[in-house]
Amino acid sequence: MNNRFWRLDARPEGNGFASALSLQSAPVPEPGDGEILIRNELLSMDAGTRMWMTAREDGYQPPLPLGTPMVGLAIGRVVASRYEAFPEGALVRTFGNWADYSCVDAVMSGAVLLDEDVADKRAWFGPLGMNGWTALWGIEKTGAAKPGEKVLISAAAGATGILAVEIARLLGCETWGIAGGPEKCAYLTGELGLAGAIDYKAGNIGQALDAIGGIDVYFDNVGGAMLDDVLTRMNHYGRIAVCGLLADYGGSRTAPQEFDQVLMRRLRIEGFFSPDFMQHGPELTVRLKQWHEAGELIMPYDTTRGLENVLSAYAKLFTGGNIGKVIVELDQ
Ligand SMILES: NC(=O)c1ccc[n+]([C@@H]2O[C@H](COP(=O)([O-])OP(=O)(O)OC[C@H]3O[C@@H](n4cnc5c(N)ncnc54)[C@H](OP(=O)(O)O)[C@@H]3O)[C@@H](O)[C@H]2O)c1
Repeated sequence: MNNRFWRLDARPEGNGFASALSLQSAPVPEPGDGEILIRNELLSMDAGTRMWMTAREDGYQPPLPLGTPMVGLAIGRVVASRYEAFPEGALVRTFGNWADYSCVDAVMSGAVLLDEDVADKRAWFGPLGMNGWTALWGIEKTGAAKPGEKVLISAAAGATGILAVEIARLLGCETWGIAGGPEKCAYLTGELGLAGAIDYKAGNIGQALDAIGGIDVYFDNVGGAMLDDVLTRMNHYGRIAVCGLLADYGGSRTAPQEFDQVLMRRLRIEGFFSPDFMQHGPELTVRLKQWHEAGELIMPYDTTRGLENVLSAYAKLFTGGNIGKVIVELDQ
């Protein structure tokens, strides 16, 4: 039996994923001691994995070596196991590969057993997974959002953004979002009930931000020039939780021009990354599951079928082609 997998051949230029990754095939690996073999069912497309494709040595984890399978979150069933806690047939989520199968060290890959009681398994990536953990941690801990405060979220119609919006509202905040295009903004103010949504692609973002009347917490997924527009509209003692820097993932490095506002407005800017809160995953999941079961965490899924279509699904994260969580569903 063969295993198809996406291999990282070169460091992508901008969004040129097709010339940097190729679909390969090799015999299905046999798990060694401590390893499990998973038949992948769902792959999570995460914008942060773009950083792993670059050659930056100062990132939060080393770059993926060229010539190796692309790594990403996967959900599937264990089909062979050399690690007792993950028996054959178990449903798991792990850092696996963009592949038909993931053969991983059960401990090092962060594999977790998933409850079978969640009807839509895709929730284990979104509301009950890394996006949910990130949104909750960033809004509550890093952003320290309090009831009644005004919270602004960039890339608000994406997976992490939607959950940040919903969690901020559940914590009693007035929520605002920035997203690209009228359809996304209508979704945010209509379906999700935000106080307002700003279409950054329509131009004059500064004037639109003025309508908020001062921002207490900025949950930033984007960085770049947008951060400057927000810095000059922050309330005194506001917090900026830096979740991601999408504007720079293609290779640029934007320096804020309005950095002096940090002093003038006594702001706190703090970045946060998943390794900081990974050990809190179980307790974060308990809280998220309560909200999820109560129907408080809506998540639209943008699902593409077939391993061969991974790159077109992935590109949506950088061209804005998605509302909600981008997932690839594999043929079984
Ligand atoms: N710190 C952590 O541990 C952690 C964990 C998970 C995710 N993240 C971060 O969360 C952010 C969102 O990731 P995700 O996987 O959930 O993706 P996503 O939000 O589902 O998709 C990305 C969205 O970002 C917007 N975008 C892309 N490039 C942009 C640009 N240059 N300027 C403005 N908006 C842009 C696009 O929507 P528009 O149409 O609105 O442009 C796109 O749909 C990323 O920055 C990621 O690194 C961080």
